[in-house]
Amino acid sequence: MLPKSDPPLLKPKSPDHSDRKSITLYSIQAFVSAHPRSWLLLSILALQIFLLFVIHSLPVSFSFRHFSPPSNLSVQEEAKEERENVCEYGRVYVYDLPAMFNRELSEKCEELNPWHSRCEAISNDGLGRKANGIIGVVPENLAPAWYWTDQFASEIIFHNRILGHRCRTLDPESATAFYLPFYAGLAVGKYLWSDNYTHHDRDFHSEMLLKWVQDQPYWKRSNGWDHFIMLGRISWDFRRSKDEDWGSSFIYMPAMKNITRLLIERNPWDYFDIGVPYPTGFHPRTDSDVIQWQNYVRTRTRKTLFSFAGATRGAIKNDFRGLLLEQCRNESDSCRVVDCGGNRCSNGSSAILETFLDSEFCLQPRGDSFTRRSIFDCMVAGSIPVFFWHRTAYYQYEWFLPGEPGSYSVFIDRKEVINGTSIRGVLERYSREEVRRMREKVIDYIPKFVYAEPKEGLETIKDAFDVALDGVLRRFREHRKMEDRKGNIRKLK
Ligand SMILES: *[C@@H]1O[C@H](CO)[C@@H](O)[C@H](O)[C@H]1NC(C)=O
Ligand SMILES: *[C@@H]1O[C@H](CO)[C@@H](O)[C@H](O)[C@H]1NC(C)=O
Ligand SMILES: *[C@@H]1O[C@H](CO)[C@@H](O)[C@H](O)[C@H]1NC(C)=O
Ligand SMILES: *[C@@H]1O[C@H](CO)[C@@H](O)[C@H](O)[C@H]1NC(C)=O
Ligand SMILES: *[C@@H]1O[C@H](CO)[C@@H](O)[C@H](O)[C@H]1NC(C)=O
Ligand SMILES: *[C@@H]1O[C@H](CO)[C@@H](O)[C@H](O)[C@H]1NC(C)=O
Repeated sequence: MLPKSDPPLLKPKSPDHSDRKSITLYSIQAFVSAHPRSWLLLSILALQIFLLFVIHSLPVSFSFRHFSPPSNLSVQEEAKEERENVCEYGRVYVYDLPAMFNRELSEKCEELNPWHSRCEAISNDGLGRKANGIIGVVPENLAPAWYWTDQFASEIIFHNRILGHRCRTLDPESATAFYLPFYAGLAVGKYLWSDNYTHHDRDFHSEMLLKWVQDQPYWKRSNGWDHFIMLGRISWDFRRSKDEDWGSSFIYMPAMKNITRLLIERNPWDYFDIGVPYPTGFHPRTDSDVIQWQNYVRTRTRKTLFSFAGATRGAIKNDFRGLLLEQCRNESDSCRVVDCGGNRCSNGSSAILETFLDSEFCLQPRGDSFTRRSIFDCMVAGSIPVFFWHRTAYYQYEWFLPGEPGSYSVFIDRKEVINGTSIRGVLERYSREEVRRMREKVIDYIPKFVYAEPKEGLETIKDAFDVALDGVLRRFREHRKMEDRKGNIRKLK
């Protein structure tokens, strides 16, 4: 803390800047008039100061190579510098949690769900079973990059990727962000559907986790502001407000208040919820896998104008999906329906991918919640999504999708569809060139919504995981700067 008033040393008031400047100028003048030739000296000095400024504003590596003596130390420093540039937003520390919060859950995979084992779904580090049946639908050399990935497997996928990430640090002191590899979605999955369990069961792991983390020194330092977690289900599964309702109350627990949550569906009004793409079946191994796939979907002949994939038999009569289904069936020469009833689309069927590869557009109504995995299945196949709710994508995945919705997607107000507007009519009004431009935008963004297979990510292309981590680090860094500024102001007061 600075003293409230200056001690009365030389002057009763501290001098302001103009005072100081005039004092400096006066002494230079006095010096020059005493030593007339010193103008030359001063000019050289000024030139040197100028050069120093220029050099400082140049990129670091440049000044390094040209102005440091070529010793081994500087080479090491240069390498360090380069590594730090890769992690321009900072580094992440991954907590080594007790096994009950992650490993024990995935090991007991046959118990994660009351009806059937989830072992296959979370196998291969969360990517799932290899998609053997896919040859013929995708280029042969890309078939090994396809898996039957479960839509709720992100907790395991993120955990594996973050352990291998180049911006991971083992030193918490140097971390900008702290990751909690807790499989909250897997933990609650077992207890969601059965009356045999109570709200205590659904909250048990979450409560233990928060108890654990609140004892950690780096938690206490920030009240959780620089901590984040991946929750592999939709936000509403963790927002139970009454004991008898659905889901766990994890997000509503007081200690969660400042923790950033990555989710496959966010609550758009909660700053701490961040929507990240659902995992799809494509897990590229290299940059070149991505580029080859982009070329493949770009050059497909698309015979169908639009398609609709969903559970057809379950659709309730008044459900909006039922209406789309009816339109699609009525327009069978331009629309194709894929029946996803009974888990058919997520388990060992390439029908859905084939349909999207063959369609110009795909219909993406809301399902049980606002989002669906199908949005990303559709775009990965280079098909243009048609939305009926803003919350299905525009308010969800802002870090991963183009800012201008009309540049890559079509929005049709659901009320107009209910009123009898023909979807086919709307889509047919787009010119070939407009369709081509939208598809090009979708293809451009494919890297941002696939999860790469290697733990360390792709060579140069940033995938969905990289985008998510960069975004979190950037957010924390900005928050810390703001806090530092506030702290400085407080100190000055
Ligand atoms: C610099 O490193 C090289 C090998 O990396 C070594 O041969 C050389 O002796 C080192 N020079 C100094 C001055 O340390
Ligand atoms: C619920 O408990 C009953 C009786 O213990 C048992 O028969 C039943 O299988 C349980 N249901 C589930 C879904 O675990
Ligand atoms: C969340 O952070 C704020 C400061 O930004 C702090 O006052 C508050 O106590 C924190 N909440 C919890 C539950 O840690
Ligand atoms: C589908 O076609 C039937 C028969 O032509 C018609 O009665 C119905 O209104 C159509 N439904 C839609 C949603 O277009
Ligand atoms: C998925 O398909 C595999 C092989 O066809 C089968 O063994 C497995 O039981 C299926 N799983 C589910 C959840 O239907
Ligand atoms: C639906 O149709 C009715 C009657 O044709 C019209 O009055 C209404 O404005 C329409 N609503 C929308 C949202 O298009």
